[in-house]
Amino acid sequence: MKYQHLADYSASSVIMGCMRLNQLDEDKAFSLIDTALDSGINYFDHADIYGDGECEKVFGKYLSLFPEKRSKMIIQSKCGICSGYYDLSKEHIIESVEGSLKRLNIDRLDILLLHRPDALLEPEEIAQAFSTLHEQGKVGAFGVSNFNSMQLELLRKWTSLPIVVNQLQFGPMFTGMIDFAMNTNMKNENACDRDGMTLDYCRLNGITVQAWSPFQYGFFEGVFVGNPKFPVLNSCLQDLADLYAVTKNSIVAAWILRHPAKIQLVSGTTNPERLKEICSGANIELTRSQWYDIYKAAGNTLP
Ligand SMILES: NC(=O)c1ccc[n+]([C@@H]2O[C@H](COP(=O)([O-])OP(=O)(O)OC[C@H]3O[C@@H](n4cnc5c(N)ncnc54)[C@H](OP(=O)(O)O)[C@@H]3O)[C@@H](O)[C@H]2O)c1
Repeated sequence: MKYQHLADYSASSVIMGCMRLNQLDEDKAFSLIDTALDSGINYFDHADIYGDGECEKVFGKYLSLFPEKRSKMIIQSKCGICSGYYDLSKEHIIESVEGSLKRLNIDRLDILLLHRPDALLEPEEIAQAFSTLHEQGKVGAFGVSNFNSMQLELLRKWTSLPIVVNQLQFGPMFTGMIDFAMNTNMKNENACDRDGMTLDYCRLNGITVQAWSPFQYGFFEGVFVGNPKFPVLNSCLQDLADLYAVTKNSIVAAWILRHPAKIQLVSGTTNPERLKEICSGANIELTRSQWYDIYKAAGNTLP
């Protein structure tokens, strides 16, 4: 496992995403958390809406049974997605954090993310919510998810506390964040900048990007690893897996972690073996040409 500086923490490059934790029986959920810790993961990603609060509750039960594990964890949660609308009002942010703390059975969230931009967001109000939560000791540091660079700029104008994370969808089959940069001034589809150069903005401003749904193609359309729809990509991943004596899952992880922006990978697997394979990808340093082979095998061309 690799670790990187994030706020005041030393954060693992692989994060255990807890969105699917409620799909497991309790003992299996607990053993997945144990596998994560044993594999060097110290960062856990939640949201108030995952399983309608059930995922945080399972995690909270684990912490009530094994309270000594809390000090080994960086716990992150998110707020702002409600049923059928978004709400980043001061009241909602504070209320959501209080709910998460209760369900997680902790007295402080290490990181809070705003889950998605709310068209009606008022940055002054968000800044007040952040200050209140920070002063009360309920949240250590703040970030966002799915924000573009100007939305980040707007928020940063008002909040005196640093924004340390932007969580975005990224993986070999979801590369919009990097495609357009290599296609500047071209007239092809990959030249479209759909996120206001968020990745470069984050790098310039010391904001860590976290890659969600790294094994999915499209917007939750399915998994590309082992999927017959993507024979070229799977064959390229298999060749590299054979070369490094690992699995395709490890190679996907190595591909994401190879990016110099030090992108963290938010893994969503509920399978302990798969989680170990993903973690072992953190020990592989792909060469430039191997990295580009995967990028091209995923269907991209270089100008
Ligand atoms: N900020 C946001 O807007 C946002 C949105 C979505 C998710 N997230 C975060 O990101 C985390 C990861 O998202 P995700 O769960 O969609 O990501 P993921 O890791 O890409 O996908 C996990 C799912 O794919 C399956 N899978 C993965 N690799 C596979 C393989 N090689 N073969 C077959 N099945 C495979 C897993 O099945 P098994 O369980 O059987 O392995 C699981 O159902 C979430 O837990 C959450 O914390 C954030």
